[in-house]
Amino acid sequence: MTKDRVLIFDTTLRDGEQSPGATMTHEEKLEIAELLDDMGVDIIEAGFPIASEGDFRAVSEIAQRSKNSTICGLARANFKDIDRCADAIKHAGSGRIHTFIGTSPLHRAIPNLTMDEMAQKIHETVSHARNLCDNVQWSPMDATRTEWDYLCRVIEIAIKAGATTINIPDTVGYTAPAESADLIKRLIETVPGADDVIFATHCHNDLGMATANALAAVAGGARQIECTVNGLGERAGNTALEEVVMALKVRNDIMPYTTGVDTTKIMNISRRVATASGFPVQFNKAIVGKNAFAHESGIHQDGMLKNKETFEIMRPEDVGLAGTSLPLGKHSGRAALRAKLETLGFDMADNQLNDLFVRFKDLADRKKEVYDDDIVALIRQNDTVEDHIKFKSLRVVCGTEGPQTADLTLLVGGEEKSVHATGDGPVDATFNAVKAIFPHGGRLDLYQVHAVTKGTDAQATVSVKLEEDGRIATGQSADTDTVVASAKAYINAINRLIVRREKSAPGDDIKNVNYKDTI
Ligand code: KIV
Ligand code: ZN
Repeated sequence: MTKDRVLIFDTTLRDGEQSPGATMTHEEKLEIAELLDDMGVDIIEAGFPIASEGDFRAVSEIAQRSKNSTICGLARANFKDIDRCADAIKHAGSGRIHTFIGTSPLHRAIPNLTMDEMAQKIHETVSHARNLCDNVQWSPMDATRTEWDYLCRVIEIAIKAGATTINIPDTVGYTAPAESADLIKRLIETVPGADDVIFATHCHNDLGMATANALAAVAGGARQIECTVNGLGERAGNTALEEVVMALKVRNDIMPYTTGVDTTKIMNISRRVATASGFPVQFNKAIVGKNAFAHESGIHQDGMLKNKETFEIMRPEDVGLAGTSLPLGKHSGRAALRAKLETLGFDMADNQLNDLFVRFKDLADRKKEVYDDDIVALIRQNDTVEDHIKFKSLRVVCGTEGPQTADLTLLVGGEEKSVHATGDGPVDATFNAVKAIFPHGGRLDLYQVHAVTKGTDAQATVSVKLEEDGRIATGQSADTDTVVASAKAYINAINRLIVRREKSAPGDDIKNVNYKDTI
């Protein structure tokens, strides 16, 4: 690898999935891994194999399918985790074991290990991993709050035991950019053997500095950036893949490093991850937010018409957005829809296009202009797992004169069921109706509505999150009728909950792994 090449390590499927509520289905993980592989991500951290059967299966299948990327699994500092991880990645063209332990005083206190005991454990576990795989990454979790001398000591031990990548996590997002650069630089200068390994940076976004810290670490000598699509991740998330990749591209004059990522695939994967995780992208998010290339004020629009560079430092096309957003309408035909899909980066089989076309026409009848985001929302509606419950019809009565009521018909396992329910508002009445037809223990954790495009006839996208016995499922849907979108999103979440019930024991997911227990 040349010195100016920075490896992109994507951990959307591991750290990203650890975001509360961001559980993805197996099929979604495979699809996202395929997109990451195709867009040129160097390393994909596909999961935490010991965490659950589901995680093991996902890592293992992604390892078998990946064409270009190295596939990595996470393991705590014990032989059982490491063996399970080695087993999951064994069929990868190129596989990596990533093992970690918390080295700061706060984290050492949890397993109650002395500095010497922990150092010994690092030697044993990294050596064990290296005996199973010649590509081993080691992370001192909470590195940025670990004593300097101890950090140097344990990194040296890990390198001697065979680690090939040393990752320096800012686990709690505490570091500032100048410190981030300085830390990596001093470690490379100080630790014996540092020149023989790659230093990586893994930054959390608690103070909103994750991307800046990652880029500063590169200036300090790091040559691997750990990141996630849309910045998904624990608490405030991680360094966003799209941000670091575009920053390195646009500001190559002062950051002369390259990545292997095809930036034109960014928008597509961002949308896919938003749908799968149930975390819509905030409108003003850098690069991938709906407003990132929108110009509202007269002065800005005027400037843009005269010269795009007046208010744009990158072209929408560079991230895979169609430069101009020409709305389709009810007179648009199949060819226009196909052309639009191509510009949006969707490649659809004929039968999928036919289905989408029917729904597009239905929407165009109800709405004057159908924008790019409307089309994406229509496609997302179809991104559901095989549904046990299907929406058939809904009529609600709402307004100031209560009670608000819902008459709902669903197909449950193919059988039609109808009910009349009341509630505190039309959405509450609708959700009560769903519960009356299909009783379940899912607690509503989140209900969110936003308009996809402008105008009172805009489609509303609704996200719903349910929690049942530690299992979390999210659902999304879009419709010009907010209550219908709500019903469909709620049903979508229940369908996912049913799949999760079948695939896992209660609470059997990555969020329930305790690192203290098996160190
Ligand atoms: O944030 C963190 O420290 C991690 C480690 C497992 C690398 O995600
Ligand atoms: Zn992390």
